[in-house]
Amino acid sequence: MQVIKAEGLRKSFGEGANQTEVIKGIEFEVEKGQFVSIMGPSGCGKSTLLYLLGGLDTPSSGTVLIENKNIFDMSDRKRSKLRCNKLGFVFQFYNLVQNLTVEENILLPLKMMNKSVKSNAYTQKLAEILEIVNLSDKKKLYPNQLSGGQQQRVAIARAVINEPAIILADEPTGNLDSENGKIVMELFREINKKKGITIVQVTHDEEKVAYGNRLIRMLDGKICEDTML
Ligand SMILES: Nc1ncnc2c1ncn2[C@@H]1O[C@H](COP(=O)(O)OP(=O)(O)OP(=O)(O)O)[C@@H](O)[C@H]1O
Ligand SMILES: [Mg+2]
Repeated sequence: MQVIKAEGLRKSFGEGANQTEVIKGIEFEVEKGQFVSIMGPSGCGKSTLLYLLGGLDTPSSGTVLIENKNIFDMSDRKRSKLRCNKLGFVFQFYNLVQNLTVEENILLPLKMMNKSVKSNAYTQKLAEILEIVNLSDKKKLYPNQLSGGQQQRVAIARAVINEPAIILADEPTGNLDSENGKIVMELFREINKKKGITIVQVTHDEEKVAYGNRLIRMLDGKICEDTML
C-alpha cells in the first residue's frame, strides 16, 4: 500500500526577482513499512521536502497524498487533524515543551486530539513507550534535567504515542554523540519493524542509512538517485 505520494512537487521562496525555486519537480511514492533515508548536500532542499510531505508548508505547485488523500486539497483544519492522526515528527532540536515533564510531553499529541489521557489504555501505553525508550525512571523530570540523547528519546516517544502511520524525522541524530545516535536509530528500526510504521528520515550520515531499506539522494531540489537497499 502506498502511504505517501509526491506529485510534481515544487516550492519557491521569495517574491519577484528574489524568488528562488528550492524544490524543482519531485515525484516519488513510499510504500507502507518502508524506512527511507534522504541524503544530499546542505541547502539542496531536504528539510523543505520533509515539511511539504508533512503538510507543515504548502507547495508552489504539485501536491502530496497521504494514504491517497490530497493533503493540500483540504481545509487547514482537516489537514491539522490528519497530521495529528497520521504523522509523527522528530526534529534535530528536540522541540520539547520546557515547562512540561517527560510524561506530559509524550502525552501532548493525545491531548491535542482531545483524548482523555488519564484512561487506563493510555496509562498503559505511556508505560510501554517509556519502557521502550528506556526513560521510565525519568518520567517526572523536565527536559532541561535530561541529556540530549534522553531528550531525543522523549521526542521519539512523543512522535509514536498515537501510533502514527508515518514518522518524518529531520536529522534525528544530528545533535547526538555516536552512542546515543545508535540508540535512536535502533529505536527507529524497532518501531518500523514491530509496528510497521513508515519512516522517512533526513540524514547526513552514511552509517545511519543502513538502518533503513531505501536511499533517496537529492541534488539541487531534485531526486538524483533512488535505491532499494
Ligand atoms: N522560509 C524560507 N525562506 C526562504 N528561503 C528558504 C526558506 N526555507 C528554506 N529556504 C532555502 O531553501 C534552500 C533549501 O533549504 P533546506 O532547509 O530545505 O535545505 P537542507 O537540504 O535541509 O539543508 P541542510 O542539510 O543544511 O539542513 C536553502 O537555500 C534555504 O536558504
Ligand atoms: Mg535541513
